[in-house]
Amino acid sequence: MELNRYLKDRQQIIDAALDQYLPAEDTLPVRLHQAMRYSMFAGGKRLRPILALAACDAVGGDLMTVMPAACALEMIHTYSLIHDDLPAMDDDDFRRGRETCHKVYGEALAILAGDALLTEAFVLLGGMAAEQPKIVDSSRKALHIIARCAGSRGMVGGQVVDMDSEGKEIDLPTLEYIHTHKTGALILASVQTGCLIGGGDDKAFDALTRYAEAAGLAFQVADDILDVVGDQALLGKDVGSDEARGKATYPALLGLSEARQRALELRDMALDSLSGFGETAEPLRQIAHYVVDRSF
Ligand code: IPE
Ligand code: IPE
Ligand code: MG
Ligand code: MG
Ligand code: MG
Repeated sequence: MELNRYLKDRQQIIDAALDQYLPAEDTLPVRLHQAMRYSMFAGGKRLRPILALAACDAVGGDLMTVMPAACALEMIHTYSLIHDDLPAMDDDDFRRGRETCHKVYGEALAILAGDALLTEAFVLLGGMAAEQPKIVDSSRKALHIIARCAGSRGMVGGQVVDMDSEGKEIDLPTLEYIHTHKTGALILASVQTGCLIGGGDDKAFDALTRYAEAAGLAFQVADDILDVVGDQALLGKDVGSDEARGKATYPALLGLSEARQRALELRDMALDSLSGFGETAEPLRQIAHYVVDRSF
């Protein structure tokens, strides 16, 4: 399996589905829908939906049944990025290779475009079971997991502690709380959703949960490292902004080389958790490598 080809193919089918699910650009109010699509189609990696589909593959499920939930996860993620970049939060000017949503559409519309993407995600999730009676139970469970992981006990909670920790010295458990919540939670929800709707059993669910917890934390450790050593043009977002804002990050707390070491350990934990799977988990294995080796 060639990972780059795989990622490109999956990005394409996800983008086509997102285009179909999101309100058209000429839907009233036009500027709101333009702002939503501006950020959605700016070229994100689509990691969360790719993980949902890869988890579905791992348990031998049908990809298209997972697609609405996979797209809902990307909408929630994109909303989180729009809000994360606002002046009241990280105050960043570039995202996904273009100016941030608030730079182009203004703060009020950026806030509302984020709100609308979050809400559209639940429109999709709510409609999913109705259209596919086979997955009524699993999609109800997935909806609950996604809502919980996106909210105050998940991503939003992580963002709050991230903001509260700016300019402060924090300990490693607090840093780990930030990362497992602001980033890990949605990655966990993505993998669990793919497993559940794909028809995975409890044993697969537990193993994939361990995979996602390790890979999700590794992903944010790598994000912190890239903010120090990454190339702004490749990343498509500002670099150096963590240090400028006094953010709590792995490189700031542990130093670059120990942070890198931690990311590799977490990758190995993610790989170990897949030991009970055969070929069907090959994409998840390669994604675990990609998460820590990536340059964007
Ligand atoms: C960026 O996420 C924010 C984090 C949670 C680390 P990604 O690196 O997945 O961003 P996109 O979706 O590819 O733009
Ligand atoms: C963002 O973390 C996490 C969420 C958006 C929930 P960061 O603030 O580190 O993400 P980037 O570096 O701006 O993409
Ligand atoms: Mg942030
Ligand atoms: Mg940020
Ligand atoms: Mg970052």
